[in-house]
Amino acid sequence: MDKLVIKGGRPLVGRIQVSGAKNATLPVMAATLLTRGRNRLLNVPNLRDVRTMGELLATLGAKVNQRGNKVFIDTSDALGHEAPYDLVKTMRASVVTLGPLVAKAGLARVSLPGGCAIGERPIDQHLKGLEAMGCKIELDDGYVVAKANRLKGADITMDLVTVTGTENLMMAAVLAKGTTVIRNAAREPEVVDLAQALIAAGADITGAGTSTIQVKGVGELRPLDHRVMSDRIEAGTFMVAAGITRGELTLVDAPLEHLTAVVGKLKEAGLRFQNTPKGVMVSARRAPKPVSIITGPYPGFPTDLQAQVMALLTLSNGSSMIQETIFENRMMHVGELRRLGARIELTGSTAVVGGVRRLSGARVMATDLRASACLVLAGLAAEGETHISRVYHLDRGYERIDQKLSAAGAAIRRKKDK
Ligand code: EPU
Repeated sequence: MDKLVIKGGRPLVGRIQVSGAKNATLPVMAATLLTRGRNRLLNVPNLRDVRTMGELLATLGAKVNQRGNKVFIDTSDALGHEAPYDLVKTMRASVVTLGPLVAKAGLARVSLPGGCAIGERPIDQHLKGLEAMGCKIELDDGYVVAKANRLKGADITMDLVTVTGTENLMMAAVLAKGTTVIRNAAREPEVVDLAQALIAAGADITGAGTSTIQVKGVGELRPLDHRVMSDRIEAGTFMVAAGITRGELTLVDAPLEHLTAVVGKLKEAGLRFQNTPKGVMVSARRAPKPVSIITGPYPGFPTDLQAQVMALLTLSNGSSMIQETIFENRMMHVGELRRLGARIELTGSTAVVGGVRRLSGARVMATDLRASACLVLAGLAAEGETHISRVYHLDRGYERIDQKLSAAGAAIRRKKDK
């Protein structure tokens, strides 16, 4: 298993290219199951989760071929219907194959994902929506078995806002008979990206990006030919890297239009943003000011950047409050940040972060993807060496992060963890 060793205290300066978005790529890959033919996806990040989704599609009979940031998925012979436990347990997002499989094959057997490090994460809303569309759902040996001859359009109100739930139902509705309305839908940009990929292939979808999405079923879809949007969470992570090291980074292809809540909070904390012809330049000269943050569904502050911004605020000149409202167990980084000298009081899912003047390097352990990113950021600012073990979490969602950071001046090395 690899670990990262970071010698902190160097301001990061330079230009960083933002990659394609993991959370847009995964559902679009699953959506290829709605087609029969050769799909082409561009700007696909080279990540472990993307490879896992590729493996899953391959077990379903698709031919998957990744060349650099292009992925070709030939679904001509994709007749399988089972997403096995071994793959789903390594990546929850595998559940987005459920909607496309039942829509196209009439049958899906998808392992229940189970809980994960950040929370219980049930999929009841996905199942409720599919049932409303006429799907028979049974549980068998830890698998969801969903069957339908042809799904029927339905008017569905989600009990809560769920990103992959909205994506699953939108994909299922594309080939259903009649019109489906999804109310209280997630408005995340990744939902819009998926809708655009589907619309370009012949789907009839309106309202993606609002809380009511309408899908008129069509007979078939052409293969997808889609360029994946930029990763807003990766871009936000690099913004914090500029701020926490008091450096100056120009981010190429940062999707600022999807980061208004984040940029607003980072400006409040004192980071400076300047649009340049090459990209947005993010810089900071002094300690961040304290700010309060509550995570929320888009366009609120993303839970996927909560841990990273907490790293920044550990060095602020006052006390900040951070409240996590999406996942019940997404504060695992707090204990690790404390090992680096941060002062944080945690009550339930609310953290009060009292600023300290400096962090100092230590051995820490990554617990999930975004917690890992938080520890990398803290390590970049800490005095001395920080050793982060279990970086495989990081490799699930950040393309070549150590190379990108070292090109901007970070002293970061990958080593085998003994
Ligand atoms: N929920 C339910 N029932 C459901 C579905 C969700 O109770 O049927 C709850 C969840 O337990 C959670 C809340 O609703 O408390 C929101 O969960 P959501 O379904 O929106 O999350 P998700 O779709 O499983 C996606 C991202 C996550 C991101 C969340 C929130 C993908 C592949 N994953 O997960 O990304 O944190 O939305 O924005 O799109 C990450 O990239 O690190 C990551 C975890």
